[in-house]
Amino acid sequence: MIGLFDSGLGGLTVVRRVREALPDADLVFFADQAHVPYGERSADDLARLLQLNLGWLDAQALDAIVMACNTSCAIADVHGWPATRARVFDLIDSAALACERAGATRIGVVATAATVQTGAYGRRLRARVPGAAVFEVAAPALVPLVEAGRARSEEARVAVAEACAQLPEGLDAVVYGCTHYPMLDEHFAAALGARIARLDPAWMQGERVAALAAQRGNAGTGITRYVTNGNLEAFTANVARIMGVAAPATERAEIALPATARSNAGV
Ligand code: DGL
Repeated sequence: MIGLFDSGLGGLTVVRRVREALPDADLVFFADQAHVPYGERSADDLARLLQLNLGWLDAQALDAIVMACNTSCAIADVHGWPATRARVFDLIDSAALACERAGATRIGVVATAATVQTGAYGRRLRARVPGAAVFEVAAPALVPLVEAGRARSEEARVAVAEACAQLPEGLDAVVYGCTHYPMLDEHFAAALGARIARLDPAWMQGERVAALAAQRGNAGTGITRYVTNGNLEAFTANVARIMGVAAPATERAEIALPATARSNAGV
């Protein structure tokens, strides 16, 4: 069994790639919708949530944890990874490998404010791709639009165009530094044009975990459990729509920060 987590629906873009790479694997995806959006949260909150969510997944006796949240990976870059029994696949490692493979050296990264604040993308991409110039842009409007089911709206098109307008000229590639953004790909394609590659690290996540599964040789039954700590009815409808599955196996779990640890009132 392979576990994944994100703050919300964005993680489904990683579930999709892992499922394509491993058709028979058993997957459990946790969406921490009680605490979405992560991008506006404090580093302390995000470190606590990472520990909580990884701990919950690790208790499911997994073969691997495939990160589906860049913001959590960026926080781990600064605060360190909580110990887990299962091997963790970091999205930022996958992004760096994807940039290296694409031969990109002038690289834009669009991500959440919390991710950009850590500087993790810049550090890790430069470490992997010598001489790389990395330009990070925060796009706080995008995650709430995807969570509200408005990815295809005019508002989303404008918000993506505004984020892309902050990137410099002459880029080789733009990395989706947030797993919600592949759902806005049509708007990014329109804003960036055909000459700039759009890199989604989820593809490399799928490839890397498939390599591990091939070594271990343990197939599953191909089921996917979709778990939320938010509104189950809305989650089920969104999973069905995004994954194209009529009746997804969804469930609720109570995973919450202690009240005193919440620094984002109103979420
Ligand atoms: N999808 C997540 C990421 O990749 C977090 C988005 C959010 O909750 O702000 O960073």
